[in-house]
Amino acid sequence: MPKAPIKVAITGAAGQIGYALLPRIASGQVFGADQPVILHLIEIEPVLPALEGVVMELDDCAYPLLKGVVATASSDVGFAGVNWVIFVGGIPRKQGMERKDLLQINGKMFVGQGKALEKNAASDVRVLMVANPANTNALILSANAPSIPKDRFTAMTRLDENRAKTQLAKKAKVDVDQVTNLAVWGNHSSTQYPDFVHAKIGGKKATDVITDRAWLEGEFISTIQQRGAAVIKARGASSAFSAANAALDSVRSVVEPTPKGEWHSVCVYSDGNSYGVEKGILSSFPVRSNGGGHWEIVQGLEIDPFSRGKIDTSVAELKDERAMVADLIPK
Ligand code: NAD
Ligand code: LMR
Repeated sequence: MPKAPIKVAITGAAGQIGYALLPRIASGQVFGADQPVILHLIEIEPVLPALEGVVMELDDCAYPLLKGVVATASSDVGFAGVNWVIFVGGIPRKQGMERKDLLQINGKMFVGQGKALEKNAASDVRVLMVANPANTNALILSANAPSIPKDRFTAMTRLDENRAKTQLAKKAKVDVDQVTNLAVWGNHSSTQYPDFVHAKIGGKKATDVITDRAWLEGEFISTIQQRGAAVIKARGASSAFSAANAALDSVRSVVEPTPKGEWHSVCVYSDGNSYGVEKGILSSFPVRSNGGGHWEIVQGLEIDPFSRGKIDTSVAELKDERAMVADLIPK
């Protein structure tokens, strides 16, 4: 029996990241080679003509798994019955900005989109926030969709994890697949902490393979914290296919079971019992998934004083961001 199609919505579908995401979802690279999909593509009204062109291209690929496309500027139509939403719609930062400078520009749209999501989505809906500042946008969205369980909301730090794995692999002169257990903690911002202490290279502690502690504590961390800005400076536009790739990795890591002994980085609501992060903060953690939609924060990692300081700084920034948008978060 063929599987029933799932409905997947992408906001900002005609933007740079959207354009890189769609062929990979429609071809089965995300939800599985036997999982039909119906795409709900959401854009602002002036961009609908360009979105039509994207729909033509999807038609022209003749993807066997693509069972329908809805292109719309209406959140109600776009979120109707959807099982997954990847929120990409929003303005990217320009050179010289921090991601949180986008809060006043992007934050507001998640009030209306949260309400529309709650009203229209399927009861099993799951969310990945990509638009920046991703953690706080996801917080606003979920606060405005209070009946959707908090564990359905995630925000993306997988691009940071992928970046960190590559930098460690280059330094150790090994293939990138040798680097595992790379946790990113905190905010998807220039305070994030890519955790080299628990990372492994070829199954050994990364700190035993890379003994240059000054590099790990200094250049490594700042390279990851500033990588988005470096891409913007070089390209004149923010990262796009690497972001789409990380979004797909993030979704796959929720829908597939996490390999034994591993974890992946994603921002989720803190339960208040994990690593001293206050309940209700949407922070990046090492997470494991059971493949059936259930995930849990990996417990029991020892946090040394260096890591503690880094995590606390980033979580403090998340609290500041939440305070900046208090008017968008219903009490
Ligand atoms: P882009 O400008 O190319 O595309 C964004 C699209 O969103 C545009 O087509 C725009 O029309 C659309 N849009 C704007 N408001 C909308 C709304 N209310 N509803 C639906 N669509 C809307 O930008 P991009 O490069 O694709 O980046 C999108 C976002 O993703 C930015 O905020 C960027 O900073 C962020 N981003 C996050 C990460 C991450 O790791 N979390 C990585 C890269 C980019
Ligand atoms: C990234 O990490 O590349 C994105 O968040 C885009 C940006 O503004 O840095």
